[in-house]
Amino acid sequence: MRNKLIAGNWKMNGTKPEIRSLIGGILSRLDPERSAEVMVLPPFPYIPLVQSLLDHTPVLLGGQDLSPHASGAYTGDVSGSMLADWNCGYVLVGHSERRALHGETSAQVAEKFVAAQEAGLQPILCVGETLDEREAGRTREVVGGQIGAVIEAAGINAFSRAVVAYEPVWAIGTGQTATPEQAQEIHAGIRAQLSAEDATIGGRVRILYGGSVKPDNAAELFACEDIDGGLIGGASLKAESFMAIYQAA
Ligand code: PGA
Repeated sequence: MRNKLIAGNWKMNGTKPEIRSLIGGILSRLDPERSAEVMVLPPFPYIPLVQSLLDHTPVLLGGQDLSPHASGAYTGDVSGSMLADWNCGYVLVGHSERRALHGETSAQVAEKFVAAQEAGLQPILCVGETLDEREAGRTREVVGGQIGAVIEAAGINAFSRAVVAYEPVWAIGTGQTATPEQAQEIHAGIRAQLSAEDATIGGRVRILYGGSVKPDNAAELFACEDIDGGLIGGASLKAESFMAIYQAA
């Protein structure tokens, strides 16, 4: 049985007062009776603040990106061990905004995936197709290639300490969510690809859906067999909507 995970990707949003109030709102809505896990992914400068606010709570903490390098002359970059130093257990790799706006290739994403695990973090590997790719009928091929690049670089065993997030690029921040059927089809394909390498690992890996998840569409997405939670952008910036999605899980 895979435990649901609801992760809030704040992207480049937030101020100190907003973050204090958001964390307060999340903590006040946590239900110890629920098994679903909650995670927040703040911008780097706020990680120490969030870490102190989350001390002794079950809410998980992660970064939005990391350097493929362990340390050195990489101005502006942040290493996995720096994130681990602030109690981050997770880090996004390959978010479509990094792939599109920073030109990250699947090979570079795979290097980051490996670097995250070397620092003791669980990577959350983001994959997804653009609208053009979907309309050209290339969704399976694109997503399969993004997953395949990481299997090739890190090996299938690495997926026993990782999370996958399927985020169709056309659904991110657009208000246009994939239907549960569209999402389930791709999630099942990802699981089948991993299971073909190792059935146990494929069966256990959590695959989150992301792209305009809202309180009113979350329950039907999370009811799908291979959808193990959500990676939430816009709706994670308000405790009310984020925790309504948590309740749907
Ligand atoms: P969204 O973003 O929920 O605002 O569509 C999701 C994401 O990019 O992780």
